[in-house]
Amino acid sequence: MIKSIILSAGKGTRMKSDVPKVLHTIFDIPLVKYVIEEVNKTGLIDENFVIVGHQAKLVEEYVRNNCRNSKCILQMPQLGTGHAVSMARPELSGYEGDVIILCGDTPLITAETIKEFIEFHHSKHSDLTVMSAVMENPANYGRIIRNYNGTLNSIVEEKDAMPEEKLIKEVNAGIYCLNWGKIRQAFSELSNNNAQGEYYLTDIIRWANSKKLVVNAFTIKNNEEIFGINSQANLAEAAKIMNKRTIEKHLNNGVTIVDPATTWISPETEIEADTIIYPSCYINGKNKIGKNCKIGPFAHLRGDVVLEDNVKIGNFVEVKKTTIKSHTNACHLSYLGDSEIGSEVNIGAGTITANYNPLTKEKSKTIIKDNVKIGSNSVLVAPVTIEEGANVGALSVITKSISAWSLAITRAPLRIVENWVKKSN
Ligand code: UD1
Ligand code: CA
Repeated sequence: MIKSIILSAGKGTRMKSDVPKVLHTIFDIPLVKYVIEEVNKTGLIDENFVIVGHQAKLVEEYVRNNCRNSKCILQMPQLGTGHAVSMARPELSGYEGDVIILCGDTPLITAETIKEFIEFHHSKHSDLTVMSAVMENPANYGRIIRNYNGTLNSIVEEKDAMPEEKLIKEVNAGIYCLNWGKIRQAFSELSNNNAQGEYYLTDIIRWANSKKLVVNAFTIKNNEEIFGINSQANLAEAAKIMNKRTIEKHLNNGVTIVDPATTWISPETEIEADTIIYPSCYINGKNKIGKNCKIGPFAHLRGDVVLEDNVKIGNFVEVKKTTIKSHTNACHLSYLGDSEIGSEVNIGAGTITANYNPLTKEKSKTIIKDNVKIGSNSVLVAPVTIEEGANVGALSVITKSISAWSLAITRAPLRIVENWVKKSN
């Protein structure tokens, strides 16, 4: 098992936001969590050190509460990427194994690529391996300078590059694997004598070469994976790419998605074959959707939703933290939250589960058993149970549990005043 260092101390000025960059989200999951999850998924790394600086408290608190195997290390002030890594020296004192370094703002990196990269590093008996990418537009990236025999010579930052170096299209992707025992000394010898006055992590390549260590570059196949978020436009683009990946996975698994362009499905949603997703649905959080379901158009699943087979969730229906058994329909204009709903249930148009008490701030559960029919525009005030086969008349406000096979109705009686219109004129 090896260790990772995840650089996340930078300011992210171009986000123009009060939120620290790595806590910006895609499907409500912060960027840094995507990176940590993929690192953990490789099964090769047992400890992650997240370097935090700008708004460190917020990032540290998030990581502590939400990320496995991860510990934050403070970098204050932020004097460059090399300085950032050197902050991990106390934690890694005595450690001689490999360390992989990544950035907390590249949410599209995958466990497969990280694994392939580490395996490459091992197979080459490398002391230091840099991930590179070939880019049509290499602007702003560090350029990869290779020796005549193809080995890696050095990395030159754009701001320090000569005009002819700027023409190089192979760039530094910002991911490194190194033998900590052999390279750690480099971090005591870095200088900030460069265009940006920073301690560059990239200078360890020259250092390693000067010590005759084995240095290699691994070229990534899919540049999307190293796409870094620097602006809100980048964030929107990354979300789109992530969504496209998820949709492709579901299409390949036999799910029908009528309009991928207007369908959003979180990476944590599972969907079985022959379910149809109609246009303009937003499916967020962790959900499990069975076979032959029909979702949308314009449906909103907010997470922790489990749909068994043959469930219909129609237009303008919002579902959250709810389990729905097979052959149940909620076709129009409803809110179903914190509920357990049986099979063969019909949820009439406009049904609301009132699950939240704003005075106590508590959420309660609505339980609807098999074969129940809920009339249109009903409000089910939780906690409440509608037992098997019961019917709720349209426009009812249900504040007590209803026994099996009963009719519950709270509607005011209909009055018809004959000729009222004529008389009042
Ligand atoms: C860096 C690389 C560049 C590479 C690019 C890939 C250096 C000197 N240059 O450039 O070769 O092509 O990444 O994206 O490393 N950070 C800290 N502490 C600091 C400074 C930065 O934690 O003091 C973090 C940032 O939050 C970010 C990462 O390090 O996650 C990269 O920093 P950034 O300033 O974006 O580096 P670049 O100039 O883009
Ligand atoms: Ca950057």
